[in-house]
Amino acid sequence: MSEQFDVIVIGAGPGGYVCAIRAAQLGMKVACVEKRATLGGTCLNVGCIPSKAMLHSSENFEAARDHLAEHGVNVGQVTLDLAKMHARKNEVVGANVKGVEFLFKKNKVTWLKGAATITAPGQVRVEGKDYAARHVVIATGSESIPLRGVEVDEKRIVTSTGALELPEVPKHLVVIGGGVIGLELGSVWRRLGAEVTVVEFLDAILPGMDGEVRKQFERVLAKQGIKFRLKTKVTGATADEAGVDLTLEPAAGGTAETLRADVVLVAIGRRPYVEGLGLEALGVERDERGRVKTDAHFATSVPGIWAIGDAIAGPMLAHKAEDEGVALAEQLAGQKPHINYDAIPGVVYTWPEVANVGATEEELKAKGVAYKVGKFPFTANGRARAMGDLDGFAKILSDAKTDKVLGAHIIGPDAGTLIAEIVLAMEFGASAEDVARTCHAHPTLNEVVKEAALAVDGRALHI
Ligand code: FAD
Ligand code: NAI
Repeated sequence: MSEQFDVIVIGAGPGGYVCAIRAAQLGMKVACVEKRATLGGTCLNVGCIPSKAMLHSSENFEAARDHLAEHGVNVGQVTLDLAKMHARKNEVVGANVKGVEFLFKKNKVTWLKGAATITAPGQVRVEGKDYAARHVVIATGSESIPLRGVEVDEKRIVTSTGALELPEVPKHLVVIGGGVIGLELGSVWRRLGAEVTVVEFLDAILPGMDGEVRKQFERVLAKQGIKFRLKTKVTGATADEAGVDLTLEPAAGGTAETLRADVVLVAIGRRPYVEGLGLEALGVERDERGRVKTDAHFATSVPGIWAIGDAIAGPMLAHKAEDEGVALAEQLAGQKPHINYDAIPGVVYTWPEVANVGATEEELKAKGVAYKVGKFPFTANGRARAMGDLDGFAKILSDAKTDKVLGAHIIGPDAGTLIAEIVLAMEFGASAEDVARTCHAHPTLNEVVKEAALAVDGRALHI
């Protein structure tokens, strides 16, 4: 007879491993199947963690090379040891994935090594061995979307995975797609010395974000040296030993041109990954974008099969996947968890950072919601001046009648940390006035958030 579990989670990314741990905490017998050699999924192995390690290291390099002298700190000739930078990043990843392995042991989650197929509801096959479970959770994540005519070899034409491993700094890196991956990894390689050109199909970078933030962000990145080719599409690529010739065309059609690159990063989005699970045979429905269809409680169209994270609808973010993992485990244990999808923050970890939560002005206008805006620039913040980081602003949107916070958009130093205050405020249904009345330590960057909240009512103090 096959070994019986309460829950088998397929995929050990932030959605799957967190779901497995929480289910085990709640007393269930849990297995998690992972086919990668290490736990942690895209996020820990080839996503969030290595990209943030490279962002941090490259920031240090750029500071030493270009900015420390302004502070009276002279470091002499600054040189790059890229192999060491990669080695450090790999150590960081190694420690993180080992950490998940430790947590599995601590919580008595069984790691089934190999690729899983769901042979029937409640039946999972891994490496030719069958296992049974009352609940099966699909947490298989996502993969990079390919671009027709631009064949990825992970050497000259790379996805984010190859872009995190480049053995030398390219002279010219062309990034296809001005989204989160393109701008984060484009920033890494620009700081390390590459000329970077971002080719974006639309008329602005970071689609879906606040319009003002998008414009200012593009200006700041352009000032840093990133070149933008907006309203442009790539229709072909020819790679040779030394580089790649890309064919560029105006998005609206017109005359083609050639752009030469040493390395090309394809970053035009990610799509759900469910290969080999056997979903068609089971009748598990998917939507027009290939995402596993679920109801509000993560139930797929087949009873006993659930899905979370990048494989289903919603933002493809690690913390969204984690929250869904926890909520599903608690639900399977009979609890009544709830996720507030209006309060999921998004952060772009460039410098300055970009962070958002809730509605944009564009969305509120489209819905006909009457709102107030409060804005405050980092130039008027004492701490930002002390740091010499003056680019950006915080913007808070609140309901015109009730003053309830509906969204916030920050571009500036540590925006990703600053947004947390607004996320919490939104979870508590706070008004802009509540945020404005809260004491903020001085001198901190957080005072920008307080001043933006004051500005909602036209009474910012320092501008
Ligand atoms: P994944 O993390 O993709 O994990 C799925 C796992 O399932 C994989 O390990 C896979 O091997 C395994 N699997 C698939 N099929 C099977 C099978 N049949 N059998 C067994 N195992 C299987 N998000 C953020 O919030 N912040 C960031 O800073 C951030 N940075 C990113 C940077 C990059 C370069 C990339 C690519 C992504 C980044 N993301 C970031 C997104 C984040 O990585 C994903 O949203 C997150 O990993 C999704 O978690 P998940 O658990 O749904 O899936
Ligand atoms: P994205 O969806 O963020 O951006 C893709 C960009 O490519 C868009 O601007 C789009 O208009 C453009 N594009 C699409 N087709 C194109 C074409 N043919 N030619 C030129 N441009 C084209 O996708 P990205 O950057 O690949 O990232 C995937 C996902 O990974 C993100 O949406 C995010 O969910 C996650 N991620 C999150 C991070 C974070 O939270 N800091 C960091 C990195 C990734």
